[in-house]
Amino acid sequence: MYGLVNKAIQDMVCSRFGENTWQEIKQKAGIEVDFFMTMEAYPDEITHRLVKAASAVLNLSPQEVMQAFGEYWVQYTAWEGYGELMDMSGDNLPEFLENLDNLHARVGISFPQLQPPSFECADIEEESLKLRYHSTREGLAPMVIGLIKGLGKKFHTEVDISQTQSRDAGAEHDEFLVKYKPQ
Ligand code: HEM
Repeated sequence: MYGLVNKAIQDMVCSRFGENTWQEIKQKAGIEVDFFMTMEAYPDEITHRLVKAASAVLNLSPQEVMQAFGEYWVQYTAWEGYGELMDMSGDNLPEFLENLDNLHARVGISFPQLQPPSFECADIEEESLKLRYHSTREGLAPMVIGLIKGLGKKFHTEVDISQTQSRDAGAEHDEFLVKYKPQ
């Protein structure tokens, strides 16, 4: 994945646990680069190794690390100059979720090797919807849960998200039931 993702993991760890903890995680992950370049595409394996090492050092499950990371990503991308793009993508949570593919299509203009996820909304009601998540990658569903929680904060909306179908359990795609209530 693009360096932006690995940098966001670094930023989350440094801001919450300090630089020394980050160095420990990087060393445990066997990563030798001094710093990640935002616009460079790195093998996915680097990101997976970072999550695994962070999980061991911080004594959290890999799923907890990915969920925390997803939540952090919403603020991080805004700080990194993508706030306007986020603001253009919807005025409330359901509208934003319907626009996720357009958002990544725009991101793809600056990141030509992007392999974006794809999201589909179904059964949209006033306070709930089903969110289908498609990806060329595996194991990122916990990150999606964190992302939706982060978006709930952005839109001052109470969110309850549960996974209703899982590729890990043989389903064709991951699916979530998202319940929301503006505060
Ligand atoms: C302006 C804000 C955003 C930017 C700049 C952005 C950019 C990116 C980038 C660079 C990647 C790595 C993919 C690659 O390197 O091939 C990625 C992946 C991903 N993004 Fe976004 N993204 C944004 C917002 C969001 C939001 C709000 C969601 C909420 C659901 C989201 C969901 C994901 C997921 C799940 C992945 C993992 C890739 C996969 O599933 O295969 N992104 N995004």
